[in-house]
Amino acid sequence: MGASPGPNSAGVWGELSVIEVNGLKKVYRVGSIEVAALRGVSLRIDEGEFVAIMGPSGSGKTTFMNILGCLDQPTEGSYSLGGVLVSEMDDTELARVRNRRIGFVFQTYNLLPRLNAVANVELPLIYRGVPRRTRRLLAVRALEAVGLKDRLHHKPSELSGGQQQRVAIARSLVTHPQIVLADEPTGNLDTKSGVEIMAIFQALNDSGITVVLVTHNADIAQYAKRIVRFRDGLIVSDEAVSSRTIAERDESLDALIAGLTEGAAEEVKAG
Ligand SMILES: Nc1ncnc2c1ncn2[C@@H]1O[C@H](COP(=O)(O)OP(=O)(O)O)[C@@H](O)[C@H]1O
Ligand SMILES: [Mg+2]
Repeated sequence: MGASPGPNSAGVWGELSVIEVNGLKKVYRVGSIEVAALRGVSLRIDEGEFVAIMGPSGSGKTTFMNILGCLDQPTEGSYSLGGVLVSEMDDTELARVRNRRIGFVFQTYNLLPRLNAVANVELPLIYRGVPRRTRRLLAVRALEAVGLKDRLHHKPSELSGGQQQRVAIARSLVTHPQIVLADEPTGNLDTKSGVEIMAIFQALNDSGITVVLVTHNADIAQYAKRIVRFRDGLIVSDEAVSSRTIAERDESLDALIAGLTEGAAEEVKAG
């Protein structure tokens, strides 16, 4: 596989973000009981795709996402990211992938309750040693991009569910990832907030970021470009979305997301 820079990476990392899994299996052992959460999943996701993963509860979606995010390892099978086998990456490379190339969004937001929005968004930058002033600047930009410019100093408990999820998205974006993985990001939200979240994901995807999103909601899945269905740890269908839903969004969203990309590129060059 070639190693030319992806169009969305602004040449910063010079690696493709393509995901390729083959024969992925995952067995959980709880005491003497074995649960086969994945039973042989093969899938390729190219740079710039927007994939919705659907399937009943317990079909292995979260297990699959955790493996894609390098948060968990398969029992069997291979996973390569940008042409590199994840199983052969050392700890430094893995940390870099988790902290830079991939952004995560969870159903329950996973924000730190005692920190305000800016401080929550800054966290991934603290882990990677970005100086305070740059951190603040990038965090504020990311929050602006998700429409929360006027909520910078609010704590999670002072925000609605939709706003908390937007903080979580800002946190996932602040490192300018090539891939955003979202596990039921709209699962706890009302329809309107859900659509606002999808507008952000569509804007991110239009800017070149690969998006993989788990959803139970067939309407939400229509915002993606491709739907992959899981059942009992296997992929049972994989199809392009023929009449995609486009969420209405303000033009400023795209400009802000583009600004985020430039900001991250400058910051990486600077040090
Ligand atoms: N940490 C774990 N330990 C044991 N079993 C697990 C664990 N995580 C998930 N499972 C089991 O694996 C199967 C798939 O779970 P999961 O990937 O969470 O499915 P989904 O996200 O589609 O609901 C389920 O039967 C679940 O009970
Ligand atoms: Mg799940």
